[in-house]
This record gives sequence, C-alpha cells and structure tokens, in this order.
Amino acid sequence: MKETIIIDCDPGQDDAINLLLALSSPGELDVLGITTVAGNVPLDLTERNARMMCDIAGRTDVPVFAGCAKPLLRELITAENVHGKTGVDGVEVFTPTGRPQDRHAVDFIIDALRSADDASITLVPTGPLTNIAAAIQKDPSILAGIRRIVLMGGAMREGGNTSPSAEFNILVDPHAAEIVFDCGRPITAMGLDVTHQVLSSRERIARIKAVGNRAAEATAGMLEFFSRHDSTKYGADGAPLHDPCTIAFLLQPELFEGKLCNIAIETRSPLTLGHTAVDFWGVSGRSANATWIYRVNADGFYELLTERLARLK
Ligand code: BDR
Ligand code: CA
Repeated sequence: MKETIIIDCDPGQDDAINLLLALSSPGELDVLGITTVAGNVPLDLTERNARMMCDIAGRTDVPVFAGCAKPLLRELITAENVHGKTGVDGVEVFTPTGRPQDRHAVDFIIDALRSADDASITLVPTGPLTNIAAAIQKDPSILAGIRRIVLMGGAMREGGNTSPSAEFNILVDPHAAEIVFDCGRPITAMGLDVTHQVLSSRERIARIKAVGNRAAEATAGMLEFFSRHDSTKYGADGAPLHDPCTIAFLLQPELFEGKLCNIAIETRSPLTLGHTAVDFWGVSGRSANATWIYRVNADGFYELLTERLARLK
C-alpha cells in the first residue's frame, strides 16, 4: 500500500534532490503536499525552489505551501555559504509554472492531519522543524493523524556541522526540535552519523549525469555545486547527501540500520545549543522516542537515486 506523505523542507540542493526522489516514486509514495520553511535560504526562495522541482519532475499536480519565515524563538540562520545565493545553485533558476498556494503551510498540515484517519500520514521534515512544531502547538490533536515522522537532523558520533555540537536543522530551531522529539509519535532520525556516509563522489555524479534527462542533469548540476564546499570542509570526494536519506528510507528501509533510543534536544546552553543528546547505550533512564539511524548501504542508496531519476522524462 502507498504511504501518504507531506514533505516539509528548505531547498537547498539536498532537499531539492529529495523532492525529485519522492516525486519520481508515485508507485510507493502519495505526496499530499510540500511545505516549505525558512532555513538554508529565506522562505520566498525555499518555496520557489520547491515549485521548481515540481516542474522539473513534471509533477505540478503536487501543491506547495509556504510556512514559517523564522524559527519559533530565535533569529533565522541561513546557509548560503553552502547552498549558494539561490539555495539551489548548480541549476538554472526559472519561474515555475505551478502557482504558490494561498494557505499557510502550518494550516495545510493541520487540515490534512485533522481530516486523516488515525496514524495515516507520514511527515518528512528535511529542514528546521518550525512548521511541524507550530502545527503541533496550534492543534495538538493532529498528533493522532501522524503515522510516523522520518526527518533529517541531529548528530552524535560525527559532531556538529554548524557548531561543534549541533547540526544545522536542529541548531536553527532547537525549540521546535524539542517539541517534535517530545511529541510521542514514532520518529526516525537521519543525522550526520548516517548522512556523512552517502558522499556524492565524482563517479556517482557522473553516473547520474549519464542518465541524461532534465531531472538527472539538474541533480548532477546541483551536486557539483554542493560538493565543492563540503569536499573542502571534510576533505572527502563529494558531499554528504543529507536529506534524500529520508525518502530513500521510506522506499528501501533495508538500506539502513538504526537503534531505538532516547534523543533529547539542548535548548539552553549557549555552548551546545541544538545538540542532539542521543542516548545510544540507554544510560539516561529516559524512554525511547526515536530510532537513530547510524549506517547505510551507500552504493545501494545511489543506485536507488539514479534509477528513480531515470524514471522521469
Ligand atoms: C541539513 O542542513 C541543510 O543545510 C541541509 O539541507 C540538510 O537538511 C544538514 O545539516
Ligand atoms: Ca534541508
């Protein structure tokens, strides 16, 4: 049976590629809507970039909703240094044919979950968790409609990528992350420990480029741009392709290994703000609230991505 999902994102090249992966998989995934949030770049750009990806995928039937322009309590941090001015540098920007939706993303999420059967909609957040937390705060009854949350965020063994302790999505809105991790619905977390295993090496990008369609060329272009910054930062052949771990997990969970444990979010310390305290060995006595993914079959992941992109025209 198809899994009904809402993707909440801040494209961002890796969010954008995640959208293409989802939109090329209609056999398994029913994408009810795409909601966007401020993160990698400001909200007007994340919303436009999401609609661009719907065009590239030939899926303008999927509605895109703009959400929160800033985190719940903190000022917005963006990441143009990684993603470029547009957020999707590497692909030529164009005016999408799909129209923006009038409804706020938070209201769309609330309406969708309110009218859904219990445990029937999967949320796939790949940016700061502001929209999801705002929806839960506004109407906690929506929790019943959530089947599971498969998100990109956090870091344990790998350390932080935006501060020594924190990963970008959680650091941008730690208060939202705390609300989501404490929400009581099943969570699968793709942190840097796993995403740093799926490197966009030159060989993998070349294989994607060779597919030759619009989506594959856009993906290769974005990866080439995205890889420049991270290859230097991490001294590796390629960049971690963070966000597509979420949709890849929905499509082929057997590619991943994880452990159910407690994950708590640091919201007070100026030094370690946004840290994900992953209780991997169960030493805290706190009950498990999430599955922490720590290993992936990286070749299998890139095979899946390449094969799905080839399905698009
Ligand atoms: C996360 O931060 C963003 O820059 C990426 O899009 C990804 O969601 C990785 O830390
Ligand atoms: Ca993202």
